[in-house]
Amino acid sequence: AVPNTFDGEIDLGIIGGTGLYHLECLEKLAELPPMETPWGTTSSPIVISKVAGDSGHFHVAFIARHGRHHQYPPSKVPFRANMASLKHLKCKAVLSFSAVGSLQEKIKPRDFVLPQQIIDRTKGIRNSSFLNDEGLVGHVGFGDPFSYSFAQYIYQFKHLLANNDAPDEPCNLHFDKETTVVCMEGPQFSTRAESKMYRMFGGDVINMSVIPEAKLARECELPYQMICMSTDYDAWRDEEEPVTVETVIGNLSNNGHNANLLASKVIEEMANELPEFMKTGDGLRGSIKMSISTKPH
Ligand code: ADE
Repeated sequence: AVPNTFDGEIDLGIIGGTGLYHLECLEKLAELPPMETPWGTTSSPIVISKVAGDSGHFHVAFIARHGRHHQYPPSKVPFRANMASLKHLKCKAVLSFSAVGSLQEKIKPRDFVLPQQIIDRTKGIRNSSFLNDEGLVGHVGFGDPFSYSFAQYIYQFKHLLANNDAPDEPCNLHFDKETTVVCMEGPQFSTRAESKMYRMFGGDVINMSVIPEAKLARECELPYQMICMSTDYDAWRDEEEPVTVETVIGNLSNNGHNANLLASKVIEEMANELPEFMKTGDGLRGSIKMSISTKPH
């Protein structure tokens, strides 16, 4: 059995989404039981891994967003506990994975996307801030919700994405500064009319979990990037059946394979040399002080 405690510092926090409940590329150093925090208990145990690199040892913490048995629907994920636990473990950045629907022809099922913008269509029922409780008033900047440096760092490994059923047509990794993920409440998928509306809004992909995760990472001053893994064309294509769970599940295994390839390469590279954005905090370090307008009294 592996130890259930860890007292070092974590470098990278990883949050796995639907279909990604652990990373096969990582060897377990310790497994912490679900962490109790002032904001609830994390959705899963936290798996700690150690990777040897040129610059010493690099530590990774992995959480399964929906629980290991997918017990938490998107509206009930303990997002604040998950982010607080990664902050507590001293993570320098958070890499998150999410299954998404595609709102654009060019983003094919099984392609990956590094979004830089978000349109929030959740319904206000999720706890989406650590601030604003108990007389504390705080407003963090959220104009650029993702870490562009982190996305660029991941993008260098674009060539790794494989398509196991069609080895001649590798999957694509889409990335530019306008790429937008729409976050809806769910758990039902969108109607055709909504799906078309999101395309008019400028959405590229759609999921049910980037909000509040990205907001909480920002409040924790953590560089955050989501890797969106496309599973379906949502409901906007008139000639096609709208998305079903079967379509989503059909693409999860290829996506899981590519998530492991990409994560292991990113981690290997980070372990060899810690990227600048993790050393400096990507401009976020200390930002929360300037965001709090009222102290509790
Ligand atoms: N996750 C995977 N596919 C999705 C879709 N079409 N809409 C919302 N979330 C999704």
